[in-house]
Amino acid sequence: MQLSASRVILTGATGGMGQAMVAELCAAGAQVLVVGRQDKALQALVARFDGQVSCLQADLRNAADRARVVQEAQLMDGFNLLINAAGINHFGLFEAMQDSAIEDLIQTNLIATLQLTRALLPLLRAQPQSGVVNIGSTFGSIGYPGFSVYCASKFALRGFSEALRRELADTRVGVLYMSPRATRTDMNSAAVEAMNAELQVNMDSPELVAAQLVKALETDLREVHLGFPERLLVRLNGLLPRLIDKALRRQLPTIQHYATPAIPASTLSTAKDH
Ligand SMILES: NC(=O)c1ccc[n+]([C@@H]2O[C@H](COP(=O)([O-])OP(=O)(O)OC[C@H]3O[C@@H](n4cnc5c(N)ncnc54)[C@H](OP(=O)(O)O)[C@@H]3O)[C@@H](O)[C@H]2O)c1
Repeated sequence: MQLSASRVILTGATGGMGQAMVAELCAAGAQVLVVGRQDKALQALVARFDGQVSCLQADLRNAADRARVVQEAQLMDGFNLLINAAGINHFGLFEAMQDSAIEDLIQTNLIATLQLTRALLPLLRAQPQSGVVNIGSTFGSIGYPGFSVYCASKFALRGFSEALRRELADTRVGVLYMSPRATRTDMNSAAVEAMNAELQVNMDSPELVAAQLVKALETDLREVHLGFPERLLVRLNGLLPRLIDKALRRQLPTIQHYATPAIPASTLSTAKDH
């Protein structure tokens, strides 16, 4: 795909990866509509990439906000690339998760992404060359303790991407599913970073992910898994899941340690007092 002629809508643009993606897309010559909830961060992107970036504040869980994204896309004169990078994560043991947190995560990572994609497809179909990019995760291929609901959302996003790519095979709309491994952004709490350090999990920079995204778009790749050994582990998990079961069983006490919230200090002092 020729990015210099592209008109892009990027969700999650205010996030760690999103900001790096804006920089890479602009360097490649694209025009980008950046979407997020934080107005200040959106305005900063517009100022930094003067002339190439415009912004729209939207909470993608709201139908009215998604409709505003579609309206903006109609005004973009040749909108041809949707990058779905908005997402949230809740690290913690499944039993401890509130129903509201489960709903919020699935709504944000999955349902809103599907709904926005469906609403924008007619515009994408009308272009001579166009695409949808879904930012998944290694956890969209490997079920990992402490991330069960996030895994559910990203496994589903990967399945959606595969099905949509096949459904659109006789059109000029391509579908790229890109799965980064752990990446240094605000999405990962201090507990996740500490756990990753202890388990020697590699973490990429958002700039590396953004550069790989542009490379994938320019070479028309369909499914990209970033990082080694993660790419190999994804394959192993598909072929020999029990091997991965065993490896993760060994990591489980460490994951449980970091996934269990510390007892609040106030509770500790009360316990001591009595
Ligand atoms: N960081 C990692 O380790 C990692 C690894 C693999 C995959 N990923 C995936 O990469 C993507 C980008 O993540 P990141 O690391 O850049 O995370 P991040 O820094 O936390 O950014 C998340 C982005 O999603 C947006 N967002 C969240 N909820 C939204 C909502 N309801 N409506 C509109 N926008 C919303 C945020 O916008 P506002 O803040 O403006 O609301 C922000 O721009 C996500 O899909 C994530 O799952 C991340």
